[in-house]
Amino acid sequence: MARIEADDLRKVFRRPDKGPGLAGSLRHLVERRYTEKAAVDGISLRVDAGEAVAYVGPNGAGKSTTIKLLTGILVPTSGEVRVNGIVPHRHRIENARGVGVVFGQRTSLWWDLPVRDSFELLRDMHGLGAAEYRENLDRLVEMLQIGDLLDSTARRLSLGQRMRCDLAAALLHAPPIVYLDEPTIGLDIEVKDRLRTFLRQVVAGGTTLVLTTHDLGDIEDVCSRLVIIDQGRIVHDGGLRQVIETYARERVMHADLASRPVSLSGVAARLPGATVTEERDGLGVAVAFDPLAHTAAAVLSALQQEAEVVDLRIEEPAIEDVVRRMYAGQLDAAPGERTGT
Ligand SMILES: Nc1ncnc2c1ncn2[C@@H]1O[C@H](COP(=O)(O)OP(=O)(O)OP(=O)(O)O)[C@@H](O)[C@H]1O
Ligand SMILES: [Mg+2]
Repeated sequence: MARIEADDLRKVFRRPDKGPGLAGSLRHLVERRYTEKAAVDGISLRVDAGEAVAYVGPNGAGKSTTIKLLTGILVPTSGEVRVNGIVPHRHRIENARGVGVVFGQRTSLWWDLPVRDSFELLRDMHGLGAAEYRENLDRLVEMLQIGDLLDSTARRLSLGQRMRCDLAAALLHAPPIVYLDEPTIGLDIEVKDRLRTFLRQVVAGGTTLVLTTHDLGDIEDVCSRLVIIDQGRIVHDGGLRQVIETYARERVMHADLASRPVSLSGVAARLPGATVTEERDGLGVAVAFDPLAHTAAAVLSALQQEAEVVDLRIEEPAIEDVVRRMYAGQLDAAPGERTGT
């Protein structure tokens, strides 16, 4: 059964043009000029019950706008949208019963209330019975380990603590659909891992998930379907594995060294196909490698032959790179050309 159905969905934002100086602003009063921008430009999407979809794309691609259309926060300029059979912007309250939403950049908790009070307000808003509420809350407290946080105000929580509470808030009414817009933004690795485990459990429980993120690790762990959006249009919709293996395979190991390496070309010679570059004035090295050709352990060992490694970090490709490469049709993208992080 289709939980989410979008058909040729468009959202155009109009922004008044700024005129130069006084003459410009007077002209602006007489004949208003607008620049139109299609943030979502003809999206058709069908998500079935229980699917976990990664919805990714570069900055400004239209991801958050899509989520806002699906939650009914925004009214589409044209096209059709149905969620759980309901048109979200026409029946916002009914729609809200069937969905949970987290916008990673914001909180849905009341800043100055203890978290528990926010949850109780949500319980009342959703009309949850006492037993149902208790059962859902107990399960979420256990899964997200937020028992100690319930008596703090949201204001006093760290970002990771707040995000765990926000997820609980979004799932309190056990909605069949959950939209998460960058739920791991700004979190450290440990908290990210914990959240990914949680999301896997949520998906395993049959919840339909749409997850927006810039972090490839999130989607590899949690999703099986990948939808890529760019400039308001879907440019890929399909399996996740193949895209990752084709366009996002290489990793970069950044190593901090105790002193300059004996020989960079010596490192490169031990790792055929890898690209070795100097960083931090010679006190660091970046090795871009294909994990199918060399294990991370082999890369580290090659480095250790030439220098003393004091710290290291392995970087995954950025979503932006994946999209760029898909366009370029580069099957073996040059790892040295990486942009961003
Ligand atoms: N309320 C608005 N008014 C005018 N333009 C908007 C509005 N909201 C979004 N836009 C524009 O629509 C485009 C898509 O924005 P959107 O927030 O959906 O992108 P995104 O894919 O979520 O990007 P990011 O990865 O940065 O979160 C951008 O060009 C943005 O500037
Ligand atoms: Mg966004």
